[in-house]
Amino acid sequence: MATFDLLLLPGDGIGPEVMAEVERIVAWLNAHGPNSFETETDLVGGCAYDAHGEAVSDATVDKAMKADAVVLGAVGGPKWDGVVYEKRPEAGLLRLRKDLELFANLRPAICYPALADASSLKRDVVEGLDIMIVRELTGGTYFGEPKEITDLGNGQKRAVDTQLYETYEIDRICRVAFDLARKRGNKVHSADKRNVMKSGVLWNEVVTQVHAADYADVELNHILADNCAMQLVRWPKQFDVIVTDNLFGDMLSDEAAMLTGSLGMLPSASLGAADGDGSRRALYEPVHGSAPDIVGQGLANPIATVASFAMALRYSFDMGAEADLVEQAIAGVLNECLRTADIMQDGMAKVSTSEMGDAILEEIERLAA
Ligand code: IPM
Ligand code: MG
Repeated sequence: MATFDLLLLPGDGIGPEVMAEVERIVAWLNAHGPNSFETETDLVGGCAYDAHGEAVSDATVDKAMKADAVVLGAVGGPKWDGVVYEKRPEAGLLRLRKDLELFANLRPAICYPALADASSLKRDVVEGLDIMIVRELTGGTYFGEPKEITDLGNGQKRAVDTQLYETYEIDRICRVAFDLARKRGNKVHSADKRNVMKSGVLWNEVVTQVHAADYADVELNHILADNCAMQLVRWPKQFDVIVTDNLFGDMLSDEAAMLTGSLGMLPSASLGAADGDGSRRALYEPVHGSAPDIVGQGLANPIATVASFAMALRYSFDMGAEADLVEQAIAGVLNECLRTADIMQDGMAKVSTSEMGDAILEEIERLAA
């Protein structure tokens, strides 16, 4: 039996509400084994700014570095709209990604059969959907320098963001995608804008080389990112693994989330490189945001965060059986027609955040018995 250190960063808005449901599952696992978790809770985002004047403190980053995994809720909200750019809530999350070198962001979009009618697309288009978006997370437009607004002194300003990729960054992210594809449908679509961007030309070149050298057994398709966006709503089941850059991945993963019925359903894992003993830094978070409009009303859907913790069990703790258990429990409560507000449909039973947590725990109990 192992003991793992888990750092919980609930963050802002509905973050603490959805994290509370994860804590209940952690407590259940601590009572039932096989491994146990020591959790510590800390601040990130607007709440950290309020407490320390920074969206994440050095001490918190240090704890995140040392933890076996981090689970994050959400950051941001209108309360911090006036905060200077460098200290805005999102800066805390971006610093964690960068400092922990979490370059590989895995965003699975799975459409549970019970939710196929909650999607804005037709049932036959989304039913049984199982896509993995692999988003590069520490490079590109998010971090490229220069990144600035210059006053030109003539009443005009100039804003610059820099889209920048080096070979090694593309190399390591596409390997993650190819490795994942081998365990799934063995197919990768690499999305770029090589028709307009130099970074797209290099992206395409490196992915092609890595594929030819080490992954020729995997089917590789190059797709323009705009076409990828269109194909995702036209016939999403053509995709298995999609690998793309930081900015395209941000947008394509929100789009893919809606295929599954709600943004409240989509988990994510952000992983660093494996070190000598095979372990890697990791942060798990729902794809959705802090949803300030529904805070404190019990309306938040905890499934994305609970499913993110299931990814932690799978990718950080080698607890595949327990990950399956949590994921099956989620599918189970959906089959029992329980729905939070975001996925509510006619004839279903509407439940609050904590009632959804109750139901998932009961289902875990039942499945584990
Ligand atoms: C995401 C979010 C973040 C991003 C924000 C909160 C900075 O949209 O994780 O997709 O743009 O990466
Ligand atoms: Mg996003």
